[in-house]
Amino acid sequence: MATLRYFPADGSPAILAGLTPSSSFLVALMKAGAPIRHDCGGKALCGTCRVGVTRTEGLSPMRHPERERLSALGLALEGGIRLACQTHSARDSEARGLVPLKKEGQP
Ligand code: FES
Repeated sequence: MATLRYFPADGSPAILAGLTPSSSFLVALMKAGAPIRHDCGGKALCGTCRVGVTRTEGLSPMRHPERERLSALGLALEGGIRLACQTHSARDSEARGLVPLKKEGQP
């Protein structure tokens, strides 16, 4: 099983999550108990699960819904930013959370 080393957006220590080809980064991170926002539940509609991927070998190709969401957020498509809910890899990977968790009382 490959490993995803995830650096949470709040700067807390890295978390290791097991990766399988059939589960997205988001699913793997949720199974590992990692703090990551996912306001739309993994449907490529919100962009809150976006991560900066620092090891890009073996990543699944970016599909239309992910391209559309990142473009709508004004993010470059070639800069290593991916939606965790749409990204898969069977190889060891590293990613950094870009959107902090909501604080109590935030919309
Ligand atoms: S959880 Fe909403 S875009 Fe990934």
